Amino acid sequence: MPLPHHTDITDGLRLTPARISPKYFYDQRGSELFEAITRLPEYYPTRTETALMQWHAEDIARVIGPGRTLIELGAGNCQKARSMCRLVQPACFVGVDISADFLQSAVQGLRDEFPGLDARAVGGDLTQGIDLPDDIPRSGRLVFYPGSSIGNFDPPHALQLLAYMRALVDEDGGLLIGIDLPKDVAVLEAAYDDAAGVTAAFNRNVLTHVNRLIGSDFDIDHWQHRAFFNAQESRIEMHLESIQAVQVRWPGGARMFAPGERIHTENSYKYPLSVFTDMLARAGFGHAQAWTDERGWFAVVHARP
Ligand code: AVI
Repeated sequence: MPLPHHTDITDGLRLTPARISPKYFYDQRGSELFEAITRLPEYYPTRTETALMQWHAEDIARVIGPGRTLIELGAGNCQKARSMCRLVQPACFVGVDISADFLQSAVQGLRDEFPGLDARAVGGDLTQGIDLPDDIPRSGRLVFYPGSSIGNFDPPHALQLLAYMRALVDEDGGLLIGIDLPKDVAVLEAAYDDAAGVTAAFNRNVLTHVNRLIGSDFDIDHWQHRAFFNAQESRIEMHLESIQAVQVRWPGGARMFAPGERIHTENSYKYPLSVFTDMLARAGFGHAQAWTDERGWFAVVHARP
């Protein structure tokens, strides 16, 4: 059977420096590795966000109020949705995720746990725009985008995405979003280059996924994980660096990599809160209230038009 065309991948491999979109991290194995990352001692974002939402639970629940239509982007296993449903008691929940099958069963779990909740699963890639069913109420929507995933888009795309979220809600709607803040470089770099090598495995796994998608012959043993903070851009960069000279082939193309040459696989921007609230304002969310942890490492922001 011919392989579907992933021209974005082959185009990215031909660039200098080469790049692979971080969306290709998340095959089955990549999703499992990401879950393992969230439990690593060095990876502070997930546990900091969770703790901060528990710590400010009453305040968050009061500001948002019950009976809303909660739309979670990248809902995955619906673990965060479960806590949010307990916290803000929405009337309707819409989980959106690229892997629709996985999401379906997670949403069924929510229906079982919260009888009376109108819970829906919508498959879709939010960078391509999502098709919400027509009967999802427009008023009282709350878009929920936790985990600092907005940081994986470069600033112009992040702004576009925020504007898209604004378009999903009416004047009475809102956005609850998690963002990772700038901090000590050693803390940041350890979070993306952990001692157990889980992030390295996550990064290198993208090559196995790409091999499956485009029929390329990457040998992952020829590539090492690199992660560092780029202070000028305020972002963690992840790359794969070739250990030796390698030729990579795929149907219809090939590319030589010199020893030490890199493929850029991910950026993870760390926005100061004021920079982020400014972006929110430019996207049409003029009012923002933020909760942060005592170290000032992470923020959960509630924004309104
Ligand atoms: C999904 N996203 C918010 C993660 C992050 O921290 O940028 C992805 C990740 N990459 C390496 N570790 C985690």
